[in-house]
Amino acid sequence: MFEENKTANEYLEIQLLLEAIYRKYGYDFREYSVAHTRRRLEYRRAREGMTNYSSMQHKVIHEPAFFEQLLLDLSINVTEMFRDPWFYQKVRELVFPHLQTYPFVKVWHAGCSAGQEVYSMAIMLEEALMRERTQLYATDFNEAILEKAKNGIYPMDVVRQYTTNYQAANGATSLSDYYTADYDSVIIKSQLKEKILFSPHNLATDGVFGEMHLIFCRNVLIYFNRELQNRVFNLFYESLVPGGFLCLGSKESLRFSDVASKFELVSEREKIYRKKREG
Ligand SMILES: C[S@@+](CC[C@H](N)C(=O)[O-])C[C@H]1O[C@@H](n2cnc3c(N)ncnc32)[C@H](O)[C@@H]1O
Repeated sequence: MFEENKTANEYLEIQLLLEAIYRKYGYDFREYSVAHTRRRLEYRRAREGMTNYSSMQHKVIHEPAFFEQLLLDLSINVTEMFRDPWFYQKVRELVFPHLQTYPFVKVWHAGCSAGQEVYSMAIMLEEALMRERTQLYATDFNEAILEKAKNGIYPMDVVRQYTTNYQAANGATSLSDYYTADYDSVIIKSQLKEKILFSPHNLATDGVFGEMHLIFCRNVLIYFNRELQNRVFNLFYESLVPGGFLCLGSKESLRFSDVASKFELVSEREKIYRKKREG
């Protein structure tokens, strides 16, 4: 009984904390997966030596710097260049031939984190001689991480993994052709940034972003509950041209979603979908 009450009270405190974050800062975590949110908040609570989430709520309301920290805790930013190399191979093989039929192409990277995904795509487009006629939009709700994405500066020690991924994705040349090394970091060449527009966009609260031919939203929706996932899937449906493509992360799926019947499956393992033409 005591344990039951404790859990119910803790759940209530978390809901109130998320409500406070939404009302004070406009970031909506109310429909993120409960397990994920609780895990991340618990980590911060323990680190700060706080006994409960109500004291955390007080701190969040009165200390914007603490909120910034919490925002980083709640948004997992793990990413890589050419993450899941086999996925990039499939995009080249199954999606590019369709993109090539358009005079101008628009691609949206929703939840782009520090930019590695969008730079990987820019490299693939460059190698397919399509970069000049493609506009890439890279969005994230976390403006600090978006700033990192714009800068395109990455530590040298992670670039080894990026290079392995690039080769496994059948990159045409050498990854080092696309960056300049500077002591212990690398800077993505400015030429690659020319056709990329970085912009804040919150998938939980913002609207349609534009008319896209291809949308990447990889490893973002795993943190959302079913309702929020459906909101975002509808947003993507509205944002795609008929015949446009949607790419999700390997643990994400359109199956069982509200829009499942409006898309056809292009590749199961790679989670590539295509919006049906007849709606
Ligand atoms: C794990 S990263 C994935 C990065 C990249 N797409 C990849 O697969 O490597 C998840 C990203 O989603 C962003 N994110 C989380 N919730 C979001 C929301 N409501 N709106 C926009 N971006 C969000 C986070 O800030 C983070 O950068």
